[in-house]
Amino acid sequence: MNRVIISPSILSADFANLQSEINAVKSAGAEWIHVDVMDGHFVPNITIGVPVVKSLRKHTDLFLDTHLMIENPEKYIEPFAKAGSDLITFHVEACKDKKQIEEIISHIKSFNIKAGISIKPNTPPEEIFPFIDIVDLILVMTVEPGFGGQEFIHECALKIPKIKEKASDELIIQVDGGINNITAKICTSLGASSLVAGSYIYGSNDYKKAIDSLR
Ligand code: DX5
Ligand code: ZN
Repeated sequence: MNRVIISPSILSADFANLQSEINAVKSAGAEWIHVDVMDGHFVPNITIGVPVVKSLRKHTDLFLDTHLMIENPEKYIEPFAKAGSDLITFHVEACKDKKQIEEIISHIKSFNIKAGISIKPNTPPEEIFPFIDIVDLILVMTVEPGFGGQEFIHECALKIPKIKEKASDELIIQVDGGINNITAKICTSLGASSLVAGSYIYGSNDYKKAIDSLR
């Protein structure tokens, strides 16, 4: 079995020391960096945007996993791709129809980067089945998007095997929200191949120990 991809969410990092926070998780064994972009409309919170991705790109060769929790994602694909994202994941709930979802996926891929789609806790997995063969990653939210540090919603994890059943072996199934050493094991045993963790890693005093405990 392939090694699970750990993507620490910088939402819980010290924003005044992002470079060292990123280097620290890299030395601790993280494969990716998860960048949570929130616009205050799709979700109630506002976080960071394109300039931060651009700056991060100058200082790290880690894979930049950009999670857009924004309305009108189609407007921001090019800026986030050009800023240096290696993967852009957007929410299907932010799109008006199937055609628009397909267009955004091709737009992301036109920059030769990976394309992901995400579903919120109340969105059934069936909604993303039509796109399963044209994306690189499906992100199953295990909390309501908007804030770090929330409690894992167990029922959301049950979407993982339903997606896995329809997917090719190459599809990355990622989970995000409330991931710790216990919920990580639940998700990987159900078929998740990438874990996002914010407060569990950045809230710990030993990033390596925290990352190792997720595998
Ligand atoms: C939530 C974000 C998450 C968040 C996870 O809306 O998408 O990436 O940072 O935080 P934890 O791991 O603390 O639940
Ligand atoms: Zn996220």
